[in-house]
Amino acid sequence: MSTSKWDVTFLVYRKKGQGTPHYDEFTIKVNPDEYVLDAIERIWAYQDRSLVFAHACHHSTCGACGMRVNGVEKLTCITLIRDVTADGGKVKVDPLRNFPIISDLTVDMGVLYTRMDEVGHRPVLPLSEEPAEPGVKPVKIAAEGDIIRLADCIECGLCISACPIANTTSGYLGPAVLAGALQHGLDSDQHLFSLVEGENGVWRCHSAFECTEVCPSYVEPAGKIMELRKQVIWKRIFGIAK
Ligand code: SF4
Ligand code: FES
Repeated sequence: MSTSKWDVTFLVYRKKGQGTPHYDEFTIKVNPDEYVLDAIERIWAYQDRSLVFAHACHHSTCGACGMRVNGVEKLTCITLIRDVTADGGKVKVDPLRNFPIISDLTVDMGVLYTRMDEVGHRPVLPLSEEPAEPGVKPVKIAAEGDIIRLADCIECGLCISACPIANTTSGYLGPAVLAGALQHGLDSDQHLFSLVEGENGVWRCHSAFECTEVCPSYVEPAGKIMELRKQVIWKRIFGIAK
């Protein structure tokens, strides 16, 4: 880790309630090998206790610290200051787009969670009691009515923020949700199929691939949307998703 400190100015988006959005400037000394979230915490601790932002794990697991850093969606807890500015430079920090702002850098991601629940909350057949191999006990991983989360997705919302279609069409299910639908499989039930091929499903996507570009968890949502389209066509023509 570098020991020489940099002077960096953070332009931080601010908005409280019905107040006018604006940027506040905070110049602080940072170690360039610290993360953007470290700087934001220090600004809160020493310069402005009214700054509102979300964070929890500090190791790219909880998905709470997503923001736009110099206009690009990032998990701020793993974004090195040296990667986004230089000594004497500036860093602009905004809340995620395409979600309602609660206050300053914090957004309401409720719509993402409820939509994820909707595609994940499918009837699941309990696993067979038959052992996979002689002597191996079957492991029950899901029961009917369970909500199955999308593997690897930390529900950070970066993909939704980066998506140009989510920016213009609030009803669009969005990258993470459609990726969740693929995990579940279109043959699992008709409701899921209707959601995916409906007006706010896969055909809304314009294949910008911005979601895959910013996803910190290698979910590759854009690739999954393309795969879903293939499955929708198969199901329409042959009656099964393939
Ligand atoms: S798909 Fe990737 S970017 Fe989107 S919510 Fe999940 S982890 Fe975040
Ligand atoms: S604080 Fe949990 S992902 Fe950044």
